[in-house]
Amino acid sequence: MKSKILLNLSLFALLISSLGTSLHAQTYGKNGMVVSDHHLSSEVGVSILKKGGNAIDAAVATALSLAVTHPEAGNIGGGGFIVFMKADGDVTTFDFREKAPLAASPTMFLDENGEIRDNSNHKGLLSVGVPGTVAGLYQAHQKYGKLPWGELVQPAIDQAKNGFPMSFGLYRAALQVSKRDSSYDILQNFFRGPDGEVVAPGELWKQPALAQTLEAIRDQGRDGFYKGAVAEEIERYMKANGGIITQEDLAKYEAVERKPVKTTFKDFEIFSMPPPSSGGVALIEIMNLMEEADISKIEFNSTAYVHLVAEAMRRAFADRAEFLGDPDFNPEMPIDHLISKDFAKSRFENLDLTQASKSDSSKFGQLYGGDHTTHFSVIDKDGNAISLTYTLENSYGAGMGSDKLGFIFNNEMGDFNPVPGITTSTGQIGSDPNLVAPEKRMLSSMTPTIVAKDHKPYLVIGSPGGRTIINTVFQTVLNVLAYDMRIDRAIEAMKIHHQWLPDRILYERNLLSPDTRDALEAMGHTLIPTTNIGVLMGITYDARLRAYVGAADSASEDGAAKGY
Ligand code: GLY
Repeated sequence: MKSKILLNLSLFALLISSLGTSLHAQTYGKNGMVVSDHHLSSEVGVSILKKGGNAIDAAVATALSLAVTHPEAGNIGGGGFIVFMKADGDVTTFDFREKAPLAASPTMFLDENGEIRDNSNHKGLLSVGVPGTVAGLYQAHQKYGKLPWGELVQPAIDQAKNGFPMSFGLYRAALQVSKRDSSYDILQNFFRGPDGEVVAPGELWKQPALAQTLEAIRDQGRDGFYKGAVAEEIERYMKANGGIITQEDLAKYEAVERKPVKTTFKDFEIFSMPPPSSGGVALIEIMNLMEEADISKIEFNSTAYVHLVAEAMRRAFADRAEFLGDPDFNPEMPIDHLISKDFAKSRFENLDLTQASKSDSSKFGQLYGGDHTTHFSVIDKDGNAISLTYTLENSYGAGMGSDKLGFIFNNEMGDFNPVPGITTSTGQIGSDPNLVAPEKRMLSSMTPTIVAKDHKPYLVIGSPGGRTIINTVFQTVLNVLAYDMRIDRAIEAMKIHHQWLPDRILYERNLLSPDTRDALEAMGHTLIPTTNIGVLMGITYDARLRAYVGAADSASEDGAAKGY
């Protein structure tokens, strides 16, 4: 009886730490910082730093923990990107984006009339790409980690096996997804306890099958996922339910270390993710245009600001659609040209500061795509920094997976161009660089970014949000570098989104004045309100305090910055 009371008291204390206090205040750390979408995962990352682990170690542990605590996007069934700045100022990246299976083809989603069959690029097992997360984390750790691999996987196993308190935010999502139609097979029972009910706020939510899969990964490294019992079960489940991923697909999957794309802005250096993410190239194109336009002289949130920013976004997204895809399949992409200052100059010359330009709907453009990705930022006592964004594409990905393995598959194949040659004004793209091919990586918008000053990390930032990611990260970088906003303000400040097609500006409701909206409409823009853009997790360095300053976006109910 007494132990039960004690247990309940400690649970209450754990819960109150997320319910009774704000998780979103700006937080300081002298020695290191982790900012993620779940406070318990940020704590896992910090515990690894305190044990002497470096930023890579903390990132591995945080990512695997988020696969337990934040299952809408944290994952082992998806993929993503790491941008890593080492303490000596050198920057590298890891690409662990999902790949199309060997049996995939450019027309795999089409019926006999050439139309997309039953939304199959977004729904069902054909929408699943070969997962990359475990391979990417393992490869980054093999090359740069300090602590033993098993020590980094163990906290996630403990959270899955022993459970962690259900928060109100997760409970709201749990109620929603548990009601989804039964084709989202794994979700039907995902959040239910032994009594068959959805686990209530404050109660422990346990995931024994996921714990077992994580144990295989702990004991066998990447082979624990890509070979042996887990791979066999993935193939069995796929075959039984109409999927095409095989053990051969899994065994062949490799993450890739790639050079970052980079530019300068004032006396800062900006490093971001190259293709197969479009994020870094587009971010740099837009930042270069901002420098060309001398944005710091334009008042934040003014008509001139929104117009200029939207026009820059329009241009970067048009180029994204036309040129970008998997570099291993598109060796001729003009990346150096797109990110050059000369290109920004020529782009700026035809940007009318008084009138909206038109998006040419006969060419290219994109819809928003999945917005349930997650980002976290890490920095350690030596100044190694990690910016990591990974995803299942939609919230809870394909919503499908084997109960025996306890994790959810991505539906990332939806990020390929689904119908060769067909581009529409509503946003479907048919250009070649991003058509489906066996073992090709689908184009992403994830934009994990690190800004350096004097070759040391100054800002570590990223966000979920499908194609809005690029613009969300861009505006936050601009807020810090051009408008000197502190990190929490930069994250919360009004954001807009323009992606060439559809030709319209999304803006955050209640954060843009009616007068400004009227003035923008008079210039020829179409404005559409939305509730929120982005869920940013950022760290800056305060040179005067000699401390890291972290902040989690208030759009993340369970997210938190943890410093030490
Ligand atoms: N799944 C979202 C992206 O990669 O951009």
